[in-house]
Amino acid sequence: MSRILVTGAFGLVGSDLVPELQKIHGKESVVALARETISEEFDGILEKGDVTDKTLLESLIKKYDIDEIYHLAGLLSAGGEKNPSLAWDVNVNGLRYVLDLAVEHKLRVFWPSSIAAFGPTTPKTNVPQHTVLEPTTMYGVNKVSGELLCQYYHKKYGVDVRSLRYPGLNGYKAKPGDGTTEYAIHIFYGLLQNNSYQCFLKADTRLPMMYMDDAISGTIALMQAPSEKISIRTSYNFAAINFTPQELVDEILIISPDFKISYKPDFRQAIAESWPHSIDDSQARTDWGWKHNFGITEMTQALYNGIKTKLEK
Ligand code: SER
Repeated sequence: MSRILVTGAFGLVGSDLVPELQKIHGKESVVALARETISEEFDGILEKGDVTDKTLLESLIKKYDIDEIYHLAGLLSAGGEKNPSLAWDVNVNGLRYVLDLAVEHKLRVFWPSSIAAFGPTTPKTNVPQHTVLEPTTMYGVNKVSGELLCQYYHKKYGVDVRSLRYPGLNGYKAKPGDGTTEYAIHIFYGLLQNNSYQCFLKADTRLPMMYMDDAISGTIALMQAPSEKISIRTSYNFAAINFTPQELVDEILIISPDFKISYKPDFRQAIAESWPHSIDDSQARTDWGWKHNFGITEMTQALYNGIKTKLEK
């Protein structure tokens, strides 16, 4: 019986993707690989280990007869600036191991790129699919390298690897990671625990964003699309909404009128300012029918309810 391997299984995306894959394929068909953040509630096949350990990855592929990998493990933008060398090792070498193993074991691969692949010389609004990629963060450098590796392995070895440039993804199942767009999740913890939040970005910093349910359905739709529909083998532009911290606060104030916000930008402001405000994802919409469902109001309500329930447990 062939199975799916998910690395970074308890990270921001994995925490939502694994249960969804289990629903579609059955619990016995999904293997979750995590380095440490293992949820106690997890019900399924679980393995512990690091994606920089190629021998371990290969042993899991053989043990479970893996034919598809969602390779999600990685450091985010702020974490990458704190430890650039580790970011390269996990984000780039980890991906290269997965791609090498994909050649050898004929695996299909999903790997997330990010809006961090863009940089200050990229147009700020409606960024086209094919554009300037000169990122200034280590995370962005990793993402551009990874995109080119994916395309290279597809062209040279025929690996069926597919990728999306994720915008800021906002979900409630996992704890927010060490990124820049993650203020949009932290803010709900501030709201529910202290009725206040000090934001590390300026009030008017506009960034591309998406509610997690949309990201999961888009990821699965991309992987289910017939090969001939996939015209981009670097990574697809992938978009839904965009907003500033102040616009999110305005939505929160509808739910909780006493909420107090303050702004104290730190090093993440420069990272955010190097990224675009909005993305043109028409290629994904045309090629394999991508569409999003959640606007900022629906996302705010869903995050509020989800994090409230989690904190009440
Ligand atoms: N959420 C990521 C970050 O801010 C962007 O891909 O690091």
